[in-house]
Amino acid sequence: MSIKVSDHTYQTLVSSLGLGRIVSLEVIQPLWSNCGYLVRVYCQSKSLIIKHIELPKQIKNAKGWSSQAAYQRKLRSYHVEMCWYTSFAKSNIARVPQTLMAINNSPSLMLVMEDLHSSGFTQAIESAQKVHLQSCLKWLASFHAQHIQNTYEGLWENGTYWHLATRRDELKALDDPALKKMAGTIDSILTRAPFPTLVHGDAKLANFCFTADGKLAAAVDFQYVGRGCAMKDLVLFMSSAVDPNQCVQMEPWILNQYFSYLKKSLEQFQPHLSPAEVEAAWRPLFPVAWADFQRFIKGWCPSHWKINDYTESLTKMALKYIEENY
Ligand SMILES: Nc1ncnc2c1ncn2[C@@H]1O[C@H](COP(=O)(O)OP(=O)(O)O)[C@@H](O)[C@H]1O
Ligand SMILES: [Mg+2]
Repeated sequence: MSIKVSDHTYQTLVSSLGLGRIVSLEVIQPLWSNCGYLVRVYCQSKSLIIKHIELPKQIKNAKGWSSQAAYQRKLRSYHVEMCWYTSFAKSNIARVPQTLMAINNSPSLMLVMEDLHSSGFTQAIESAQKVHLQSCLKWLASFHAQHIQNTYEGLWENGTYWHLATRRDELKALDDPALKKMAGTIDSILTRAPFPTLVHGDAKLANFCFTADGKLAAAVDFQYVGRGCAMKDLVLFMSSAVDPNQCVQMEPWILNQYFSYLKKSLEQFQPHLSPAEVEAAWRPLFPVAWADFQRFIKGWCPSHWKINDYTESLTKMALKYIEENY
């Protein structure tokens, strides 16, 4: 990789933002397949975050598959994230980092954004308490309500990193005949679901930053944002934030909290819509959206901890629901 994380690389852009000299740099993490870095740049008066990507011509992923599809998906995801931060982030009401600069010097991309830490969102959470679950559910409800029927130009036509059209290899590998047979139907039910909106597309707990009291969440990582059924975000969020042993017990609470926040957000953003109608259209699709995620995860890594009694029974429920209703 030709990226060099050094003062020299970033000083010109920091100066052009009027932020003076770089004091120090911190690599937060390398990006996927070592194709870049997420860097925190400390300037004299404040810090900022740079997502700096340079995609090589060919990528081998960690599991040894060398697939053109995986590369294309990743490439597109970084362009989608650039589009999100240049065209959508500013008008988004649920808290996201402010865009400071986006430089597309293909194959090198540089996204310069607000450091959420310096705005009070200092906490990354690995084990969520109810307060964290609530602040994320509020974030998702606001996001989904705001973007119902909105444009998704430049974003994914079908949001989420696991959507079927980009996961043909995993479908081929899926050893679950009933789920495999219904994969296309599940995908099309979700794609045609009423009140289409934007989905974050990778709304896992790690992609939220929290205030110290946990009451406010801000989201990052918009590589898979696009049009979709809101339940897909709720599924991925729950899969990442609720222990599998707690899922049966927590599911009604998660859904009830989400839909009560959604009602408030719909009253704010979509006063012409009936929250009861939106809930009636979306709630039954929660198991269907989980079956869609299960289709991906089971094909990708059959021993994954996200495949468990809860997800197996939810998937069976979804297949039965589809048989009876479609
Ligand atoms: N603007 C930001 N402010 C503060 N922290 C951030 C910001 N952007 C990313 N992070 C932190 O860095 C982590 C990785 O960033 P992310 O964009 O999710 O990269 P990746 O695509 O590799 O997952 C996030 O989970 C978050 O904790
Ligand atoms: Mg991330």
